[in-house]
Amino acid sequence: MSDKAKLVLGDKTVELPVFTGSEGEKAIDITKLRAETGFVTLDSGYMNTGACTSAVTFLDGELGILKYRGHSIEELAEKSSFLETSYLVFYGKLPTASELKVFEEKIASYNDVPEGIKTMIKAFPKDAHPMAVLSSNMVSLSAYYHDLCAQDLTPAQKDEVIVQLMGQLKVVAAYAYRHSQGLEFIKSDGSLDYCSDFIYMMTGNKNVSKEVAKALDVLLILHVDHEQNCSTSSVRMVGSSKANIFATISAGVDALWGPLHGGANQAVLEMLEEIKNSGKDYKTFLAEVKDKNSSSRLMGFGHRVYKNFDPRAKIIKVACDSVLKTLGVKDPLLDIAKGLEEVALRDEYFVSRKLYPNVDFYSGIIYRALGIPTNMFTVMFAMGRLPGWLAQWKEMVEQSGFKICRPRQIFTGDTKNTYIEIKSRS
Ligand code: SDX
Repeated sequence: MSDKAKLVLGDKTVELPVFTGSEGEKAIDITKLRAETGFVTLDSGYMNTGACTSAVTFLDGELGILKYRGHSIEELAEKSSFLETSYLVFYGKLPTASELKVFEEKIASYNDVPEGIKTMIKAFPKDAHPMAVLSSNMVSLSAYYHDLCAQDLTPAQKDEVIVQLMGQLKVVAAYAYRHSQGLEFIKSDGSLDYCSDFIYMMTGNKNVSKEVAKALDVLLILHVDHEQNCSTSSVRMVGSSKANIFATISAGVDALWGPLHGGANQAVLEMLEEIKNSGKDYKTFLAEVKDKNSSSRLMGFGHRVYKNFDPRAKIIKVACDSVLKTLGVKDPLLDIAKGLEEVALRDEYFVSRKLYPNVDFYSGIIYRALGIPTNMFTVMFAMGRLPGWLAQWKEMVEQSGFKICRPRQIFTGDTKNTYIEIKSRS
């Protein structure tokens, strides 16, 4: 295939370079399109537009492949840990034992937040959604670390703010939960691993079984990164103005909150609960979903990129059975989820639209079995996705020729209006 694309516009033909990625993906580089033709492209929702090049994550939606820095998600979920995988996405290589130990210790050293942040968390109504608490406190950290708000951080400052945010987001998440329950904050216990310590800070239970800690660790690994999804693109967009990293991560939290994105894991549980409580059979529920006049969707199904099984959903579905069995939990919602999946995957509406379970379809079942309340599910997604956001931000600001993100548009509004005095307006 030629490494150039020919575009014929009337009597003019322009040649545009074809860019080929390391996995064979191909893109037409339109960097010079407007200068050479006066045209821009139009692609609502960026369905066909690559916003950047990146070496962090590769996914193939047709084949259901997901790799972080060339490592398959299946292998990392089986053999790695959340912090080791986080190091991998940040630095592009698996850490040595001593590198990992230092990295883990640095994250563990950020085991609290300034008193003013604790006061802010306590100032929220108890029924505030924890994502509101998380987002506002992540940006508020900028008020306490002025040196890390410089528009250009040194490599040492970037390394430091990465471990600081890995530690402090977990603290804010746990404190937000404790406040929502009207409970006192529990101080981190440095003798526990990352996931066990988070569960301890949430529940006060120090004897977290290794199965529970491993289940949470695997879930966090599966959420680490997912190329240019909505929240990561928001992080890149905000970070591209050289906004400080705290504001940049807060933007990622806000984008993730939406029910079409990370908020779907909470919406799935609410959907399963509704089916259980209403006694609706799957076919009745799915008929509502398929009804064009209904706004309901089969939450946890469908994906902008995956037109096959989301590989993460496959892993989580298997983990559901083993975690619930280990914990001796029988959750009717799991049976409902499996039944819905089975009926949907035989239904032409879903098959023809290539709608399969995504990462959010089963994840909430495990969070629930671990005792994590539904409105904390998207916070868990944020904890898992934080390394991806930070890795993609780091990659962007370190990329030569880094520019502020500023898409174009095509104007379709009024072209010429004249001012009418207010007394003459109808
Ligand atoms: C995440 O981008 C990422 O990588 C995200 C993520 C990550 O790790 O960062 O993977 C995490 O956000 C997963 C997705 C979580 N969201 C949900 O589960 C919400 C339910 N799913 C959808 O709303 C939808 O599938 C999206 C938002 C995920 C994708 O939407 P698209 O790509 O814009 O597709 P679309 O809305 O244009 O749908 C195409 C067709 C439409 O029907 P027609 O107009 O062609 O008749 O499929 C239908 C849609 O109505 N459809 C659904 C559906 N999803 C799509 N119909 C019913 N239920 C659904 N879930």
